[in-house]
Amino acid sequence: MSTSPTSKLTGNPAEQLNKNSFYELHCNDEAATAALVQALAQALSTSMNSQVSQSPASAHLYISLQGDLGSGKTTAVRYLLKELGYTGKVKSPTYSLCEPHILQINQYPIQLYHFDFYRMQSPSEWTEAGLQEHFTSHEPTICIVEWSEKADNTLPLMDLSIRIKASDPLDHHKEYERLIAFHANTSIGLELLNNLVSKTTTLN
Ligand SMILES: Nc1ncnc2c1ncn2[C@@H]1O[C@H](COP(=O)(O)OP(=O)(O)OP(=O)(O)O)[C@@H](O)[C@H]1O
Ligand SMILES: [Mg+2]
Repeated sequence: MSTSPTSKLTGNPAEQLNKNSFYELHCNDEAATAALVQALAQALSTSMNSQVSQSPASAHLYISLQGDLGSGKTTAVRYLLKELGYTGKVKSPTYSLCEPHILQINQYPIQLYHFDFYRMQSPSEWTEAGLQEHFTSHEPTICIVEWSEKADNTLPLMDLSIRIKASDPLDHHKEYERLIAFHANTSIGLELLNNLVSKTTTLN
């Protein structure tokens, strides 16, 4: 059983990344997903550290997580929180729309808000619930949104969009395989993705 994600990039990763801000990895099993998410957590810590050192009040990172039901979005957030040192129970926000978590990254308190919009009946349901303030807080904040597509254009631009795809849900041999694609949409997202690329290329 492989425990490392297999990079699908060919050529020079940095060059390819700068060209289209896109990076895709194939994970053979859940352990590979965990290893990839651990690398993402380290890249995320670096990004937050550098943002906090410049301006703590505007240190924000927005990440969307898309993929079919059961593709592994919440599982990814659980591995991410664990790698970031969170030791509490991680509840899925499917019913609450948002679960807050407090992290310490380099001794600095960081708020991590985990959203899940799957159950929303309309795109503005989350803003009507007063949850928009988490995106404009004056504290260092990470917002991760499952089912962001349900919010249409009520969400701010995500720095990084992640899409998780089961390889072939009907093929039992591929039950644990996932294709994980990253799109950077901002300069912060691109820096984060560059950092992730450099970490994952050493995983192979
Ligand atoms: N390679 C893999 N990566 C991630 N999860 C995997 C993998 N292989 C199997 N799994 C399993 O797939 C399931 C994913 O469930 P999870 O709740 O994380 O999905 P989800 O995308 O959040 O679904 P929902 O849209 O309902 O919120 C978990 O049971 C996890 O153990
Ligand atoms: Mg989920």
